[in-house]
Amino acid sequence: MVLIDKIALPDFPLLLAPMEDVSDPPFRAVCKDNGADLMYTEFISSEGLIRDAIKSRQKLDIFDYERPVGIQIFGGDEDSLALAAKIVDVTNPDLLDINFGCPVKKVACRGAGAGVLKDIDLMVRLTTAVVKSTSLPVTVKTRLGWDDDSKNIEEVAERLQDCGIKALAIHGRTRSQMYKGEADWTLIGKVKNNPRINIPIFGNGDIDSPQKAVDYKNRYGVDGVMIGRAAIGYPWIFREIKHFVNTGELMPPPTLGERIAVCKKHLIKSVEWKGPKVGIFEMRRHYANYLRGLPNIKDFRARLVTLMLQDEIIEVLDEIHRYYHGFEIEHSPIELINYHENCPL
Ligand SMILES: Cc1cc2nc3c(=O)[nH]c(=O)nc-3n(C[C@H](O)[C@H](O)[C@H](O)COP(=O)(O)O)c2cc1C
Repeated sequence: MVLIDKIALPDFPLLLAPMEDVSDPPFRAVCKDNGADLMYTEFISSEGLIRDAIKSRQKLDIFDYERPVGIQIFGGDEDSLALAAKIVDVTNPDLLDINFGCPVKKVACRGAGAGVLKDIDLMVRLTTAVVKSTSLPVTVKTRLGWDDDSKNIEEVAERLQDCGIKALAIHGRTRSQMYKGEADWTLIGKVKNNPRINIPIFGNGDIDSPQKAVDYKNRYGVDGVMIGRAAIGYPWIFREIKHFVNTGELMPPPTLGERIAVCKKHLIKSVEWKGPKVGIFEMRRHYANYLRGLPNIKDFRARLVTLMLQDEIIEVLDEIHRYYHGFEIEHSPIELINYHENCPL
């Protein structure tokens, strides 16, 4: 068992990473069904939350079936973060996470997200302000450091633990790496194996298969792993890792029926939560992923991304199910998209 304050997670928990524009309630619902042990909302700006709590409210929506769930906030100002933490308190998540890892310019270069890695004293003040103003367990997600010459995560981990955070998730890249190159877990392992550290340490970065999850668990001793990109369009990654951890064997990939069922659920939840127009529109980017591996799927996909009514889309999904009946989709490696500076995420 892994404990984040009083939140009990199973051994080697699998966390769904916070992902702006991705880890919304519809997506979280399908990840939860498939074994995610702890999930986070998309990040929420503390300033935005204070200025316009109503507009940001959607991002604060959490449902009982997804617990334990954490709300993630970011900001570079103590008072704003403290006030945002109080607003979050009222929505009653299981924990509150601070983002000190976001690399995009508009966040990091305005002294929030990964920008705070340049100033550990500021990070300590911001974290303390949040810990003091909420009754929730506070966790942090961050990176190895600002750049190659300033990988300060070992000091950061100790100082944040001293502020009273209850767990730390570390993405094995620096801010200047963005998503380039391979995540380096060596320093994550060092933090985990530092005898002064007694909070759970979760490793993050490039987990895209059960074998890699177990390999990194054994190599670096982390308490659990956080998975982001690999879950996009493939929420089955969680159950596949769990199966491999428990049995040492690889599970077969999801059947066509499972893919269609999950795709439908994602669509229905999207429409329920975002309304028909936005729900249907935002669902369009997910079809290719869910249907990957089916030959000659182009025409079906073209129909899925033009239809405007949920029932019609469900009819096409049923048609796909019938058309490919008996076809076995082979397991293909998950491709991790390399997000870059110009990408809004
Ligand atoms: C589309 C996208 C949005 C993201 N949004 C957030 C976010 O809101 N908060 C955060 O802490 N990290 C965010 N991240 C970073 C991920 O949480 C994670 O650290 C990163 O993708 C590396 O993990 P992975 O290799 O498993 O994808 C985002 C990543 C992606 C790809």
